[in-house]
Amino acid sequence: MIEKDLTIMEIMIYGCPVLKEKAEPVTDITDDIVRLARDMVFTMHAAPGIGLAAPQVNHSLKLIAIDLSVGEKKEQLIVLLNPELLEKEGEAFMEEGCLSVPEINEKVSRPARVVVRGTTLDGKDITLEARDLLARVFCHEIDHLEGKLFVEHLSPLKQHLIKQKFKKKRESGGAA
Ligand code: NI
Repeated sequence: MIEKDLTIMEIMIYGCPVLKEKAEPVTDITDDIVRLARDMVFTMHAAPGIGLAAPQVNHSLKLIAIDLSVGEKKEQLIVLLNPELLEKEGEAFMEEGCLSVPEINEKVSRPARVVVRGTTLDGKDITLEARDLLARVFCHEIDHLEGKLFVEHLSPLKQHLIKQKFKKKRESGGAA
């Protein structure tokens, strides 16, 4: 597929109901799913971001894209259907952000190592081991599929402040 066929999708922002939904498994790798995955990768690279989950582009489906190189290294791109955490180990505390929660960066605790299972776009079941930042991004994106945003790992007070901030932005009609 050539680049002009790709679409930059609108990213749903904190407060949008789809971000709270539990995503549905992908049962069939249709042309629409392949197109969605490609548009997600394009959108993630354009943002720019290192991870994107389908609910963030208004599709409540278990589909994630991750690329720590943000398009620089092809081999770093991971697109997974129905990802699940098989193992988690250790703990790391690091600043995190999310394209759906712009301008908010907060330290969040995540496992230091995870093992993830999922299906690739060509229908292969794979198991991946990830550490550090990659482990963090897997946890972050899989959280999205559960309807959970990274800010929900913060203290109730911080969550309240963030909620107020986005409420004000919506009310003022500003670009949230
Ligand atoms: Ni996110």
